[in-house]
Amino acid sequence: MRGLEICASVLNADMGNLERVSKELEKSGADMLHFDVMDGVFVPNISFGFPVLEAVNRSTNMFLDVHLMITDPLRYIPETVKAGADLVTFHLESKSDPYETIRAIKENGAKAGIVLKPRTIFEEALPFLSLVDVVLIMTVEPGFGGQSFMEDQLDKIRSLRKIIDEKQLDVKLQVDGGINDKTAAMAAEAGADMLVAGSYIFKHETVALGVKALREAVRRTE
Ligand code: DX5
Ligand code: ZN
Repeated sequence: MRGLEICASVLNADMGNLERVSKELEKSGADMLHFDVMDGVFVPNISFGFPVLEAVNRSTNMFLDVHLMITDPLRYIPETVKAGADLVTFHLESKSDPYETIRAIKENGAKAGIVLKPRTIFEEALPFLSLVDVVLIMTVEPGFGGQSFMEDQLDKIRSLRKIIDEKQLDVKLQVDGGINDKTAAMAAEAGADMLVAGSYIFKHETVALGVKALREAVRRTE
């Protein structure tokens, strides 16, 4: 049995009360806080940046998982880690050199991960599997919370799971987008190690109930 990690995305949380949200998440049983940075160019939306990440970092001791949906992630790695990121994931489709970006993240003292958009084939990740801590597979087009899980991405999760297991690589598979009780079970069965969930968790009366519901859905598949 793999210990599945729940990453709570604050993208659609109450931004006016981010400190309270962070404190609630800390007690919710979620394994980490997922923070989506968008620049309005790489994706058609703008979310939040370093001052907000710093504020979150001040208000919680949670592990901070920062998903950069920006055009040139390499340029902003020092600021991202300085603002509190423990894990930085960036898109292979961005314009930064992936090798240099992975090196920069590690040199700045954080864990590193690559992200694949739905239309990026799994083979693109292969050269980096032994260099990163996490591979994030998007199961929606990045940019917005609340979209539907793309089931056609399950094969990508299975393919990478198989290779990681065969080669006994020390890299985790993270899945992000459209995760709810049903799709969490599908992603877990396909081989995910980490599930990012935003709107599903926050639509519950408390975030703790949302996290609990996800864990129960996944447990049923084990
Ligand atoms: C989308 C973001 C996700 C988003 C997930 O671009 O990367 O992390 O917050 O939201 P839900 O869980 O609502 O699909
Ligand atoms: Zn994300």
